[in-house]
Amino acid sequence: MHNIFASYEPDLHGVPLADVAIRRGSGDDAEATGRLAAEREGDAPERWTDIHARKLSNPDHCLVVAQAGDTMVGFGWVSYLRPGASAGRNAPDGWYLSGMVVAPDMRRRGVGRMLTEARIACILEHSTEVFYVVSATNRASRDLHESLGFTEVTSDFVLPGVVFGNNDGILCRLGRDDAGADPGADVIDLAAWHAARHSAS
Ligand SMILES: CC(C)(COP(=O)(O)OP(=O)(O)OC[C@H]1O[C@@H](n2cnc3c(N)ncnc32)[C@H](O)[C@@H]1OP(=O)(O)O)[C@@H](O)C(=O)NCCC(=O)NCCS
Repeated sequence: MHNIFASYEPDLHGVPLADVAIRRGSGDDAEATGRLAAEREGDAPERWTDIHARKLSNPDHCLVVAQAGDTMVGFGWVSYLRPGASAGRNAPDGWYLSGMVVAPDMRRRGVGRMLTEARIACILEHSTEVFYVVSATNRASRDLHESLGFTEVTSDFVLPGVVFGNNDGILCRLGRDDAGADPGADVIDLAAWHAARHSAS
């Protein structure tokens, strides 16, 4: 079976990857991020390039990418979700981290942590809390987010558009006062994105 989660190896630690640039992604990145997503899903790259290009044209979503030299090594999304307006249950409207993937041969080198810290930092510039949802099976992701201060809130929720294969989703929250995120993390300036979002709504 295609494995969409990293195998859980709490005792293995890789060597941090040097010279990683974390920045806001654009339409020019959709092909490279689409390729990473497709590889994870075992799917056609074009399909994911299209999905990412479409998402990039929606002001409620912002792409954050990690690049080492010319190579795209990972990406993650920041999304403003409104489950209350679309049959959600027990999941607040607000800022969510979603869709993070690190290239398999670049994992365990700190890229996922950098992408997550950067996205948390940019959300907390504009909001007091950050959410994300995770499959209980995805122990690697749960450990990563917990180390940055996320608390698992409930498994009794519905977030429209997000389906968990084993029906084992967990809603997690981090408040501005929760310790954990590195204060020296790359903070991507998303001011232009926020300004565009507000003028579009
Ligand atoms: C989850 C994922 C993004 C992590 O990316 P990464 O770059 O390998 O993560 P990092 O190297 O920054 O790891 C940070 C911490 O997370 C935890 N972690 C990450 N991968 C882990 C693994 N395979 N097993 C156990 N813990 C893990 C560890 O606590 C790690 O710290 P350490 O290396 O000092 O022990 C990556 O495994 C991935 O792309 N998985 C498939 C997609 C996915 O599951 N996305 C998340 C959906 S919510």
